[in-house]
Amino acid sequence: MTPDDGGVLLFGWRGALFRVADGVQPPKAGSLFFCRRVPVTADERVLEVGCGLGLFAVLAARAGARVVATDVMPAAVEATRANAVLNGVSVDTRLGDGYAPVAGERFDLVCTNPPQMPTPPGRERDDAEAAADNGGRDGWALLDRVIAGAPAHLVRGGRLVFSLFDFLGVKRALATLSARGFAPSVLATEVQPFPRIGYERLDHLRSIDVEGTLPAGTPATVERVIVQGVLA
Ligand SMILES: C[S@@+](CC[C@H](N)C(=O)[O-])C[C@H]1O[C@@H](n2cnc3c(N)ncnc32)[C@H](O)[C@@H]1O
Repeated sequence: MTPDDGGVLLFGWRGALFRVADGVQPPKAGSLFFCRRVPVTADERVLEVGCGLGLFAVLAARAGARVVATDVMPAAVEATRANAVLNGVSVDTRLGDGYAPVAGERFDLVCTNPPQMPTPPGRERDDAEAAADNGGRDGWALLDRVIAGAPAHLVRGGRLVFSLFDFLGVKRALATLSARGFAPSVLATEVQPFPRIGYERLDHLRSIDVEGTLPAGTPATVERVIVQGVLA
């Protein structure tokens, strides 16, 4: 097998086709849940932080939104750009950390399906898979920054929407949004298979599960939550 003889991985959904490029995570249950339950309307100006292969960004653009999609990994930005072209839509793709690529800009909707798997000390890595999964010691590393920066990147009445594993703490999410001037709510919940990487980190997950969501024994499922904050 030659280095370029690895095949082409394609994902088809909702009448769109996505190339799953090397160095970009394939869509997971959380990706589909996020796309299904984050409401987007035509003509909204939308920012997605952490676009991955562009699933949400492309579908939102197909729905008529004007989408800026960012990611800290160059392969993800390129994958989203290519998948937008493949599906005949325009997505403004930008490389960078958090809000750095959109300094001074405001949106109707800021959303993210962020890396949020709590990561035990010493287990951090800097590859693409780690960027997609690892959320710092308590899972909140990027999410806390996205929430803190959202008021400066939303129009009045704009919405911040993100996904959350319930073991990160739904009460914490709602309280954090309130403290930042948002009217918080839970838009949707879904029971999903417990993530494989979560089994490898179960002891660590128990140590950060302050709201007591994890059952005793080996969990088979996890609840995934879509949380929204509307900026007053
Ligand atoms: C869980 S994946 C979600 C990808 C895609 N949105 C989806 O739902 O399938 C998280 C994405 O966030 C990106 N990411 C990680 N840290 C980031 C950061 N500091 N700034 C922007 N994007 C980041 C990762 O590279 C990855 O593509």
